[in-house]
Amino acid sequence: VSLLDFRDVVAARGPVDVSLGTLSANERIWAAASWRARMVSEYVSSRVFATLSSQALAAGLSHRVVEELARMCGEEIDHARRCARVVAAFDETPVAPLPKLPPVPLHEDAAPLEALLRNVVSVSCCSETTAVALVGAEHALAGTEDLKKELERILADEVGHARIGWRMLDDAPIDDALRARLGAWLATCFAHQIDHHRGSLAMPAVSAAALAVGAPDGPANFELFVATMESVTVPGLEARGFAAERAWARALAERRAA
Ligand SMILES: [Fe+2]
Ligand SMILES: [Fe+2]
Repeated sequence: VSLLDFRDVVAARGPVDVSLGTLSANERIWAAASWRARMVSEYVSSRVFATLSSQALAAGLSHRVVEELARMCGEEIDHARRCARVVAAFDETPVAPLPKLPPVPLHEDAAPLEALLRNVVSVSCCSETTAVALVGAEHALAGTEDLKKELERILADEVGHARIGWRMLDDAPIDDALRARLGAWLATCFAHQIDHHRGSLAMPAVSAAALAVGAPDGPANFELFVATMESVTVPGLEARGFAAERAWARALAERRAA
C-alpha cells in the first residue's frame, strides 16, 4: 500500500487550533477519523482536475481554461494539507493509506467535448456545487477562528471549482443533438451522485461540540445534498436546456427501489 504522509506539513506549520473542550471520547474519535478520510478524499480529487485539464486541452478549449483546471488540481492538494493540520489537532499522525483509485472516466465512446462535458456536469455541477453547500455549513458552525479561516479558504476554492463548470456549459459550442445526448446521460450521473452521498445516511448525527470541530452529521449532510441538487443543480441544468428534472426524478425513483 502507498501511504499519504503529511507529517512534513504539520512539522512546518503546526496543527490547526480547534477547541476539543466538550467533545465526548467517541465524538473525538469520529471527528479525527472523518478529517483523516477527508484529507485523503481532497488529495485524490486532485487527479480529477488533472484529468479535466487534459480533457479540456483535447477538446480544444481555451488555454486559460486548461490552465485554470490544472491550478485547481493544486488547490485540492492544498486542501488535503489543510485537513492534515486538523488531523494533527486531535494529536493524531497525518498519515493514511491511499485507497485503490478507480480511474476517472474518460468516456472514450464519446467525442472529446462530449466526454469532457459529462465529467464537468458530474464534477463541477454536482460534486463541487454540493461541496460549496457542505463546506459553507461547516464554516458557519466552526468553533474557532483558526478552523473558520481554513474552511473559508477551502470554500472559496470550491466555489471556483463549481463555477468553472457552469461557465464551461455556458461557453461550449453545444448543439441540440449534443444537448439531448447529455440530457439523456444525466440519470446515470445523478444515480452515481445519490449512491455516493447515500453513505452519509449510515453515519451518525452529532452534537454541536462535534460540529464545531468539523465532524460531519450524516443525515443532515444527505439532506443538504438533496436540497442542493434540487435547488441549484437541477434548475441550473434546466435553465441551460438540459432535461434535468426528468432525470433527477428517475434517478431518485430507481435508487429508492434499489
Ligand atoms: Fe477540495
Ligand atoms: Fe474542489
